[in-house]
This record gives sequence, structure tokens and C-alpha cells, in this order.
Amino acid sequence: MTTEVLVASNRGPVSYSVGADGSLTARRGGGGVVSGLMALGPRAGTWVCAALGDGDRAAVDRFGATLSAADTDGQSVRMLRIPPATYDAAYNGVANSVLWFVHHLLYQTPLEPVFDEAFEERWAGYEAYNAAFAEALAEEAGEGAAVLVQDYHLSLVPRMLRERRPDLRIGFFAHTPWAPPELFRVLPDPIARQVLLGVLGADRAAFHTRRWADAFAACCADQLGVGLSGDVVAHEGGTTRLGVHALGADAEFLRERAFRPDVDERLAALRAEIGDRRTIVRVDRTELSKNIVRGLLAYRRLLTDRPEWHGRVTHVAFAYPSRQDLAVYREYTAEVSRVAEAINVEFGTADWSPVLLHVKDDFARSLAAYRLADVALVNPVRDGMNLVAKEVPVISEEGVALVLSREAGAAAELGEDALLVNPYDIAGTAQALHRALTMPPDERARRSERLAAAATALPPTDWFLDQLSALQG
Ligand code: G6P
Repeated sequence: MTTEVLVASNRGPVSYSVGADGSLTARRGGGGVVSGLMALGPRAGTWVCAALGDGDRAAVDRFGATLSAADTDGQSVRMLRIPPATYDAAYNGVANSVLWFVHHLLYQTPLEPVFDEAFEERWAGYEAYNAAFAEALAEEAGEGAAVLVQDYHLSLVPRMLRERRPDLRIGFFAHTPWAPPELFRVLPDPIARQVLLGVLGADRAAFHTRRWADAFAACCADQLGVGLSGDVVAHEGGTTRLGVHALGADAEFLRERAFRPDVDERLAALRAEIGDRRTIVRVDRTELSKNIVRGLLAYRRLLTDRPEWHGRVTHVAFAYPSRQDLAVYREYTAEVSRVAEAINVEFGTADWSPVLLHVKDDFARSLAAYRLADVALVNPVRDGMNLVAKEVPVISEEGVALVLSREAGAAAELGEDALLVNPYDIAGTAQALHRALTMPPDERARRSERLAAAATALPPTDWFLDQLSALQG
């Protein structure tokens, strides 16, 4: 394997901010793809992403469209300056309001979605945005290179790229769940087909769990009438092999990062605030799929049904705002605060706040919460994987009892030692919280150890390299 490897994703491995004096500060992102590409050394090719915000645009002005490895202190990055209206249409209008909602089964009212003329314009924006990626990748990739296209923002890219560059090996990875055929049918037929054929432009399409791969195959059968033979979908454009790679937690990174002084400091502050109360911890982006409101309502139900917990437990809820350009996210963010506040008003006393809600993103404080968690609550309505569920057991100090949605991809590997819940079932989730809080310490420690082992079975670098060798094999 000596070929060059390119990556394409909406968000790149580095982002820039501009200081008051005009200076540029780079912030490097984490995650499986970043560590995987770094591990490749000289074979790491260009990472194509969108220039997001003034900082990235200023970086393009300063360094040029393609930033070298030296410029980014990492790998070479090509940042695309997508016109703002096109970006808004693609990212907010299609990817996050429609595809994300379809894959996560999030439509809540009979009035949504609306496929009208305005949507047609947004869809044209999504196509243009995908075409910009395909164009840039076609220019950047050397003969026979491997290209790894990431996620639902870029579902049209594999096919568009294959049309331009048939010599490339193209992989697609979906970090989200995939919608079942009945839900995928919500999309207008030509668009549903375009998304499927877009992904089928890849030599390999991979997912976090078998369940999402099967759903993708079922959508292909339903919409395109193409069948699966073994793991291969044969279609008019050729064949696409399906694969499953369950991204694991990065134990090495977490164990080093979580015990640094800044985390110790925050841990001490949290302990001072919480005292010797038991803790139920959750850490999420404030995201409808994460089901934070139902999690709070389950906690409320616990306090209603089991007054013995009054004053003896704190729900540490870190909910970091996300996608605030979309009204539905802003409303959800406000709803999370309202419900948390209402619980504090209903049950709180002079010396006990039942819910400790923090909304300002602070990675060190999240790690501190992971370390002290007695119980971790991870209850998404649906989730491609969910790494919080995998990360907490790795650095928990006394072992954690994990209450986990059966609809998270992580449940496929953690299901035996987590307490699985139906994320819509508030009473059932409340019971699981009680069971987790009362789990005997030795059982909790044993389960937590097994959870940590399962969670780290496929570390990010192996996850990335496995995909690559399967693509090239
Ligand atoms: C999900 C998606 C990722 C995305 C992340 C953050 O996990 O699968 O592709 O990067 O959400 O979302 P954002 O919209 O803030 O990039």
C-alpha cells in the first residue's frame, strides 16, 4: 500500500480564528479520521474541506487554497470557499434539516418536511457544494489514489468523483445511522435515488454497525431494485462493497489527556459543588437526536417516584450548543434549559440543585465529569455510534454504570454490560437510572471494565487503516 490517501469532509482537521490584531490561530480537531491520516505519514494526501467562518477564509487568503502540511502543522488541507448562500443551502438546508432528520427519524410534526420550490433551490445548493468537493478532489488526487469521503454532507461526491476520475479508489463512510426504507421514502424519489447512486459511486460504502449497512442495502433494493449478494451491491454503475467498522474510543489519548492538571482542577471544582452526592453524567452537543429533554424528564420521573434520592444525587448535564443557525436547534437548546430549570425549581433546596447544566463547551470539564460519573446517561433517539458511551468507561475512576439507548450504534458492542433503554420510554429510563444508581459496586466495576475493553476494541487509527486496506484490497 503505497498510494496517496485523500480525505473529504465538511469540517476539516484544522480551523482558524482571527485575533483582534489580525493574527491567525489554528485549532486542530480530533477524531478518528484525523488520527488515522496522521498515522499514514508520507502517504497522507490532501484533506479537502469547506472554509468555515472568517478565520478559515483569512487562512485561504494568506496561504492560498491549498495549505501545506507546514502551514497547518499537520497535513495538507484544501479549504473550499463555497459561496455563503450555497453553503447555507447545502449544510443547513439539506444536510442538517433534511438528511440528518431522515437518518435519525426526527420528523416530529405531520407538517414536515416540505419539499417546495425553496427546497429545490436548497437541493441545487447541495449539488453545487458536492460538485465543488468532487472537482477539488479530482484536481488534487494523484493517479490511482484512494479517497475517503465522509458523511451525509457529501453523499453525492463518490459518484461525481468517479465520473471525473475513474482511476481512483473511492470509499464512503457514513457516521450517522442510515434511514430504514420506509423513512427514506420521505425524500422525493429522484432525490432519494440521487443520494443512493451518489454513495454507490464508491467502491466501498462503510458504516459503524451492521444495522445501518443493512438499512442502506434495503433502501437500495427499495428505490433502485438492486440486490445485495454477500456484501456487494451490483448496480448500473458497477459494484459497491458494503463494510462495517465500529469506531472505538482512543484509550491512549484519553488516559493521557484526562489526567492533566487542567482536568484535575475542574474535577476538584465539580467535587466541591456536588459534595458526596451520587452523579448521573451526560455530555452531548445540544442536538435533537441526543434526546436531552427526555433524559431530563426521566431524571424528573426518578425524583418523583423515588423521593429517597432527593438531596442525594446530582444530574451533571453538559449540553453544548450546536448548529445554532437552525431555528429548530435554537428552540431545542432553549427547551433543554427550561426543563432543567423547572426541575431545579420543583425539587431544589437551599443546598441542593438537582441538575447542574453547563452549556459552554469545555473539553477538560467534560473529561472531569467522565472521571467522576457514577452513572452515565446516553439516550439518543438514534445515533450512528456515540463515542461518549465508549469514552466514559475508559477513564471513569470508580467504574461507571452506563444507561444506554438501544438505538445508538454503540449498543451493538456495549449492549451486554450497559443497561439498555428504549429512548422514548421515560418511565423505563427512570427505572434504569435507579438500577444504575443502586448497582452493587463490584458489579459496577466489573461491567465498567468490560465496557472499557469493548469500547476500545477498534482504536481510531486501526479503524481508519482497516477501512483503507479493505478499500485497497
Ligand atoms: C455528526 C456528524 C459529523 C459532524 C458532527 C458535528 O456527528 O456525523 O459529520 O461533524 O455531527 O456537527 P457539525 O454540524 O457541528 O459539523
